[in-house]
Amino acid sequence: MGVLVTGGAGYVGSHIVRRLRETGRRVVAVDDLSEGHREALGETPLVDGDFGDPRLLDRVLQGGEIRFVVHMAAACLVGESVVDPGKYYTNNLVHSVTLLRAMVRHGVQGIVFSSSAAVYGEPDSVPITEDHRTNPTNPYGETKLACERALAWFRRAHGTSHVSLRYFNAAGAHPRGDLGEDHEPESHLIPNLLRAVLGSGPATPIFGDDYPTPDGTCIRDYVHVVDLAEAHVLALEALEQGSVAAEAFNLGNGQGFSVRAVVDAVERVTGVRPKTEPAPRRAGDPAVLVASSDRARRILGWKPTHPSLDQIVGTAWRWHRAHPNGYADRG
Ligand code: UFG
Repeated sequence: MGVLVTGGAGYVGSHIVRRLRETGRRVVAVDDLSEGHREALGETPLVDGDFGDPRLLDRVLQGGEIRFVVHMAAACLVGESVVDPGKYYTNNLVHSVTLLRAMVRHGVQGIVFSSSAAVYGEPDSVPITEDHRTNPTNPYGETKLACERALAWFRRAHGTSHVSLRYFNAAGAHPRGDLGEDHEPESHLIPNLLRAVLGSGPATPIFGDDYPTPDGTCIRDYVHVVDLAEAHVLALEALEQGSVAAEAFNLGNGQGFSVRAVVDAVERVTGVRPKTEPAPRRAGDPAVLVASSDRARRILGWKPTHPSLDQIVGTAWRWHRAHPNGYADRG
């Protein structure tokens, strides 16, 4: 049985593809390479194109060998979504519905959907459980939530099973040192700080120091990309076995770190204090996001293997130091 991974050449997607292949599954990636990197896929077959193109999907899904989809492809920057909501509604919602309709046409059984902590918005209490009210504060979160709801309606109408995985902050790199984060421009905190250490990026802006948190900077729950990948394999197994049919799971370590605490971790790991500079708050950023992942642990049997911030930053550092220009540095 085959698995289609949309966005398989991206940062999280490439770690999932590798892990799925390690389990012996046949994997096909669809990626338009607007953000992803062909080099990140190794030997995995790539269909270079847009997952929102129904003809391309018909080509990939015909024959009935693909029984499940892991849907990663999306635009995923909170700040950008606020200034360009149309991009997010088109890429993340319209194209996802096109994918769901193609799955129905070809009898695909189920989907593991890459969702986000952004569905919660500003939480009333932390750690956040899955039954916390959803109230996105940016178009990115709105489109992820709308997709989750569409999944429920597709299940009711067509029987397509689904798991939504609500990631908190994906970070780190593959411990083998050959897969990692490579965005241009880079907007995420940890790679920006590591680029500042390497001198290949400017001083990292600290977006807001007047949040209602102990040091005034935003608090996030960083989760290792390899642990995220494992959660996808477990979710897929649960769908294959029919032990889960329609469920959302948070994925985080349950511990929050402020932006300043991450700067300190980068200094501990690299031995260099990254240059930072104060900057205004970034639109759409909630003050605190910390996950309760008890449901994923209980139902999927998920157990993060790289939970510490220094491990997360350490693997990212290994990747960035060896590949200061990202995949362009891979021979
Ligand atoms: N930050 C900085 N300076 C930077 C980059 C980030 O201060 O140069 C701050 C942000 O304001 C935020 C924290 O560091 O408080 C983390 O920011 P990231 O950009 O690394 O990650 P986000 O929290 O914005 O986004 C991540 C995922 C999104 C997901 C979101 C959930 O990338 O896909 O978590 O809110 F939606």
